[in-house]
Amino acid sequence: MLNLMKKRLLSRIIVFALLVGSFAAIKVVAQDAENAAPQGDSTATVADPAAEESVSETPAEEPAAPALVGDAARGKDLFVGNISFTNGGPTCNSCHNVNMAGVITGGALALDLTQAHSRLDRAGIEGVISGLPYPQMRQSYEPRPVTEQEIADIAAFLEEADKQAAANSTASIGGVMLGGGIVGAVVLLILISLFWIKRKKRAVNYSIYKRQIKST
Ligand code: HEC
Repeated sequence: MLNLMKKRLLSRIIVFALLVGSFAAIKVVAQDAENAAPQGDSTATVADPAAEESVSETPAEEPAAPALVGDAARGKDLFVGNISFTNGGPTCNSCHNVNMAGVITGGALALDLTQAHSRLDRAGIEGVISGLPYPQMRQSYEPRPVTEQEIADIAAFLEEADKQAAANSTASIGGVMLGGGIVGAVVLLILISLFWIKRKKRAVNYSIYKRQIKST
C-alpha cells in the first residue's frame, strides 16, 4: 500500500518536473529568438572564394535598354568577391555583412545590409553605390566605379537576401515552437503510458474474491 502511494507520488513529481522543464525551455527559446541580433563577425574581412561554391555561371548580358535587370546570383558573387568588379573595386562584404544561407560572413565595419532593401528600397541602394555619399565607400569606389549592370545585380541580390531573411525569421521561430511542442507531447505520452502499464487493472480484492468463490 505504502509502496503504491510512493510510486504515485514519484510519478506525479516526474510529470510536474517535466512540465516545469518544458515551460522553462520554451521561455528560453523565445527569449533567444528575441535577442538574436544580426551577427557581424569583425574577424572575417575579405571573402574567401575557395570557401564559397560558385553559384552560377550566368553569362553577363549587357542589355542596351536603360532599365537594367539585375541578376541576383551574379550580384551575390560580386558582393562576396567570387567575381571581381570590372573596374577592380573591393568586395562589398569586406565592410558589410549580409545574413543569408550560402553567403560568407562579411565585415562589421559598416551597416549590416541584410535588410537594406527594406530600409532603402532598390533606388536607394543603387543611389548609394553610384552616388557614394559615404566617405569610406567613396574612397573605395570613386577611382574604381561599379558599373550600372553590377549595381543592378547587387541591388537584386540585396532584395533577395531581404526577402529570405523575412521568411526565415518567422519560419524558424514557428518551427522551433512547433517542434518543441511535438517532442514534449511525445515524451509525456511515453511516460504516461509507462506508468499506465503498471496500473491496477482490477479491484484490489479481485483475486481474493475469486478464490473464495471457487472454494465455496
Ligand atoms: C570600405 C568599406 C566599405 C565598402 C567596401 C563598401 N561599403 Fe557600403 N558603406 C560603408 C559605410 C562606412 C557606410 C555608411 C553606413 C555605416 O556607417 O555603416 C556604408 C553604407 C552603405 C549603404 C547604406 C546602408 C543603409 O542602410 O543606410 C549601402 C546600401 C551600401 N553601403 C552598400 C554597399 C555595396 C553594395 C558595396 C559594394 C559595392 C559597399 N557598400 C561597399 C562602407 C563600405
